[in-house]
Amino acid sequence: MTRHLISSADLTRDDVEAILETAASMHDVQRREVKKVPTLRGRTIINFFFEDSTRTRSSFEIAGKWMSADTINLSAKGSSTSKGESLRDSVATINAMAVDALVIRHNQSGACRQVAGWVGASVINAGDGTHEHPTQALLDAYTMRANLGDLTGRHVVIVGDLAHSRVFRSNVLTLATLGARVTVVAPPTLMPAGIAAWSAADGFATSWDLDAVLADDPPDVLMMLRVQRERMSGGYFPTPREYTIGYGLTRPRLAALLAARPEALIMHPGPMNRGLEISAEAADSPNSVILDQVSAGVAVRMAVLYHLLVGEATSGGYAA
Ligand code: CP
Repeated sequence: MTRHLISSADLTRDDVEAILETAASMHDVQRREVKKVPTLRGRTIINFFFEDSTRTRSSFEIAGKWMSADTINLSAKGSSTSKGESLRDSVATINAMAVDALVIRHNQSGACRQVAGWVGASVINAGDGTHEHPTQALLDAYTMRANLGDLTGRHVVIVGDLAHSRVFRSNVLTLATLGARVTVVAPPTLMPAGIAAWSAADGFATSWDLDAVLADDPPDVLMMLRVQRERMSGGYFPTPREYTIGYGLTRPRLAALLAARPEALIMHPGPMNRGLEISAEAADSPNSVILDQVSAGVAVRMAVLYHLLVGEATSGGYAA
């Protein structure tokens, strides 16, 4: 049975636990001098990125290589996509070469789910439009657990451009699966439509007032999201300065947070807009685990490749 990872909703708690446990073993490989295991020898993985990426693409490539798979990177520019080839024809072409896994980033929400219906390879969603980024949520959970242990009852506050954030959408699902309490904060213009019904269904809180949330229920984790200016066609906030004053992790806001919760973790999926949603003082503070997130990205993606391509299914929850 071909297994895919398209949405964080496809992962049961057993699935997440199994992946994070495997990721811990893979992290040990990452710390070795010789970073190579034979687990995926003879397997071929194509990383097909229709949108730019630094962290996700390089970490999937490293993950595959360290597991001895043959990995090939394709991007829209430089592939026949730039000649007008459709997504369906492109992935059917790749599929005809009998690859084992297709890691896809695409600017259209739902593209990965569609591709999973067209190919025989395992499909991994590396970010589709504003829909989801499930391996980001897994590496975020891994980083939180490495620092905090069990996440049950821990308070995670996610702040910023929720409307355009696939990281937020996957994180609320995975964090709920692991029992964390989540509050999401954004200006009204960057709250997704229908957030009230959605937050009630998925069990997270919402607010427009970051300072009130930090004061009333100081978080164990404060995750700042990137303002995705490339996805914005209109004025979502009056000026960058006003956004920073209301929703940025500024130096005074960081000081207030750490006075209330000295061990709070500062997270950001990257890439960061320093000076907009996060100050340099916060990004580089001892409480920041932003580079730990990057490091966990390789181990978690090794674990995902392992579970999809050779591991035993846990609940089978992520089969398409
Ligand atoms: N967090 C993340 O997806 O970063 P990249 O866009 O660099 O892959």
